[in-house]
Amino acid sequence: MKATVFIGGGRITSALAAGLRLSGDKRAIVVYDRNPEKLRAMRRESRIEIARDLASTLFVANMLMIAVRPASVAEVLRETASCGVPMPSLCVSLAAGVPLRKLRRLASSAHWVRAMPSPVCRVGRGLTALSFDPRVTKGERRRVGEFFARVGTVLELPERQFDAFTAAYSSSHGYHAVATLAKAAQAVGLDRATSLIAAAHALSDGILYWRESGNTLSAMLHEAATPGGIAAATMSAMDASGYARVVKNGIQAGVKQARLNARG
Ligand SMILES: NC(=O)c1ccc[n+]([C@@H]2O[C@H](COP(=O)([O-])OP(=O)(O)OC[C@H]3O[C@@H](n4cnc5c(N)ncnc54)[C@H](OP(=O)(O)O)[C@@H]3O)[C@@H](O)[C@H]2O)c1
Repeated sequence: MKATVFIGGGRITSALAAGLRLSGDKRAIVVYDRNPEKLRAMRRESRIEIARDLASTLFVANMLMIAVRPASVAEVLRETASCGVPMPSLCVSLAAGVPLRKLRRLASSAHWVRAMPSPVCRVGRGLTALSFDPRVTKGERRRVGEFFARVGTVLELPERQFDAFTAAYSSSHGYHAVATLAKAAQAVGLDRATSLIAAAHALSDGILYWRESGNTLSAMLHEAATPGGIAAATMSAMDASGYARVVKNGIQAGVKQARLNARG
């Protein structure tokens, strides 16, 4: 039996496994992790197989996913190198910020792909960016693309843009914006439950409408903010208070963290 093997059975592996099952994918998924309780929970939820040890796991892998935190990537790849079983040819790293050159250095026989999915893949509506090492074959590219396409849209990016994409593309931005907007609405008198409903609809309805309409963002802004009205006043006060600067600082901090991950 050949399988997709994950090393690391945390948040993103759990979301991917659930999304794959939701898509009807019944193929074997084997997960290796040092926390048996996480693996048992994932087996109940997504019918994954629990890896007994690293060597037997590598033996069945036709695609190896590295899904540990960036600081653990080197340690995990050293463990795989020392267990006496050759690395599978096709290896995919989900580790934010860890560049292909470092992955190549740690496991030189593998054909490396960087992938950046999000937990939204759990419901089949994710987006995954992919960046390929030149050694990855056409057939391997197709396999990786098809794998992530089962849980959402797939986007190929040159590696030089990968960290910027990673900083910009996080479902946490949506939750953060909802929480911040709802808190501000509460501060001016709206009850907590209605604040959350209003903030969630403001963000998700607006974006859904924009995407479905195919209009430009400036056309959408023009329609939603009547000159002299409340939305226009709110937006202009946000801008004057440094909204763009705050978001830019956040994204720059994300890219800086990605560079630190690359070194670690
Ligand atoms: N979460 C996301 O939204 C997301 C999205 C895209 C990409 N990623 C990337 O995916 C990777 C995993 O993120 P995550 O959020 O899923 O992290 P996580 O929840 O911490 O999962 C990582 C898992 O790997 C285990 N692990 C670490 N070293 C190990 C080892 N040597 N042997 C066996 N198991 C080991 C960890 O165990 P311990 O807890 O005991 O350390 C943990 O269960 C990261 O590199 C991240 O950048 C995450």
